Amino acid sequence: MKLFDVYSLFDVVPVKGLGCKVWDDKGQEYLDLYGGHAVISVGHSHPKYVADITDQLGKISFYSNSVINPLQEKLAEKIQKLSGYTDYSLFLCNSGAESNENALKLASFHTKRDKVVAFKRSFHGRTSGAVAVTDNPKIVSPFNANHKVVFAEFNNIESVKEALKGDDVAAVIVEGIQGCGGIHIPTPEFFQQLSAECKKHGTVLILDEIQSGYGRSGKFFAHQHTGIKPDIITMAKGIANGFPCGAILISPEFEPVKGMLGTTFGGNYLAMAAAISVAEIFEQEKLVENAAKVGKYLLDNMPKSAKIKEVRGLGMMIGLEFNEPIKEIRTKLLFEKHIFTGVAGTNMIRLLPPLCLTIEECDRFLKAFKECL
Ligand SMILES: Cc1ncc(COP(=O)(O)O)c(C=O)c1O
Repeated sequence: MKLFDVYSLFDVVPVKGLGCKVWDDKGQEYLDLYGGHAVISVGHSHPKYVADITDQLGKISFYSNSVINPLQEKLAEKIQKLSGYTDYSLFLCNSGAESNENALKLASFHTKRDKVVAFKRSFHGRTSGAVAVTDNPKIVSPFNANHKVVFAEFNNIESVKEALKGDDVAAVIVEGIQGCGGIHIPTPEFFQQLSAECKKHGTVLILDEIQSGYGRSGKFFAHQHTGIKPDIITMAKGIANGFPCGAILISPEFEPVKGMLGTTFGGNYLAMAAAISVAEIFEQEKLVENAAKVGKYLLDNMPKSAKIKEVRGLGMMIGLEFNEPIKEIRTKLLFEKHIFTGVAGTNMIRLLPPLCLTIEECDRFLKAFKECL
């Protein structure tokens, strides 16, 4: 049976990883500045992470959400401490898209409304509601297109005011930093006004921190650079360093009703062991602080070139926007310099490294990048 051919693949077969390095099946070492699309947070095959999941596998790996699982409570305590959200509650699921589906559903239950405001250039995932609030018609099927969604302009509060004026919007969903749309950072004023407008119109504010959260921006959540407190925050990617896991933080305003949300696999023992391990490594290795410090070093030392239009970023979420397509430079970086990078559109190289990246590893990238320009 062949695989359903939906991914463009590089001719590389990774077989081993450690920290920010990956090795292929021929023994070639690569520096990973992409983290498997912002997923690797504590580094590949961190020894504590490997030990913690292995230990859990030998105890119990699965039961359903009809019994008490103390690991879920332990993770909730860890996230409470890391995030500073002391009075929010946690719902666990399996992916980023599923986190956003649950957030949108909860907002709609809560407000009894069905319309959602999202933003131009947004990406929120590929399931029904998540893809409907994603601004990319190429991945929205006719089945997904029936949701009531309005796309406002990012960093433009007038456009949000216009969309909310009918008092009929269940939720505004927005990324902490727009990732797939090309690393666009919200101004603090925009997020503060957005939060105030949502409150004024009884609309739930959902912060999608799936890519920008979990330390990546140099604060636990990217929106924490702006001083707001959203009603729902969605997470995935870095939360379990590659073990599938999604989660949403829910403000105390929401009343849980038995059965209103649910999942078979969400919160399972192995995902919880992985996520708890990640949270403990975050504390022990101060990875949020490292993301801020090393990310700033990368940004401050980025080479200047007439080919580069703009460099945008915060912490370890960095976009290098070129005046031309980046395919050739990215291919050179991968096959000549053995460095993984990501993209956003045709003209942007996106850096989303593991949060344990060191200054020495930055220097290796900066030298290689200069030589490829
Ligand atoms: C901001 C954002 N939201 C949602 C998602 C969807 O996450 P998943 O692929 O785990 O469903 C992504 C994935 O790239 C993302 O970057």
